[in-house]
Amino acid sequence: MQDWLKVAMPKGRIYKQASALFREAGFFVPEEEDDSRKLRIDVPEAGMQFIMAKPVDVPTYVEYGVADIGIVGKDVLLEENKDVYELLDLGIGRCRMSVIGLPDWQPAIHPRVATKYPNIASKYFRERGQQVEVIKLNGSIELAPLIGLADRIVDMVETGKTLQENGLIEMEEMFGITSRLIANRVSYRMKSESIQALCDRLQSLTTDCKLR
Ligand code: PRP
Repeated sequence: MQDWLKVAMPKGRIYKQASALFREAGFFVPEEEDDSRKLRIDVPEAGMQFIMAKPVDVPTYVEYGVADIGIVGKDVLLEENKDVYELLDLGIGRCRMSVIGLPDWQPAIHPRVATKYPNIASKYFRERGQQVEVIKLNGSIELAPLIGLADRIVDMVETGKTLQENGLIEMEEMFGITSRLIANRVSYRMKSESIQALCDRLQSLTTDCKLR
């Protein structure tokens, strides 16, 4: 079991696509993480153990080596800035990071930006020479401009449905997001054969994935 590959899988919105990709590559991970509360799933025939993690924690598990590899969105990678290798763009979990506001937005004297991504937001506005106060929230970010906590938000947009339902508009698209395969630096050397083999199998599928 020591040479098993430990894989940190993101619970939640990406799980369905991530697990489907692994199954296409021939690794039989469960279809829906919600079917079970199990947080570790062994797949002995593949020599793998899947760790069901909160997406934002995936880079931490991989950096500390308790997971050899992991799947995580580029948004989380940029925000968390952990010491891991980024091996592959998996082409799944496609969305974008945007600056969002009300349609009648006017520049504020003391601009405030609410976000789950304080590092990304601070860097973005700093690089543009704009002074803003960044307020960290943990969810339902769209509330902030509606109730006057902030005049804009930085958040991810996938279908645009949340914005539409709350009367908000995308003011600037910051960058595109997809899920990435990441690896622990030591594991990448010690388990290079199995990581490379997995990488090759996933890579051969990513061209199709880009069409999803
Ligand atoms: C994310 C994001 C937006 C929404 C965008 O929230 O923060 O609110 O999804 O998706 P859409 O463009 O398809 O509507 P999430 O569902 O992760 O929940 P949260 O509000 O608790 O962060």
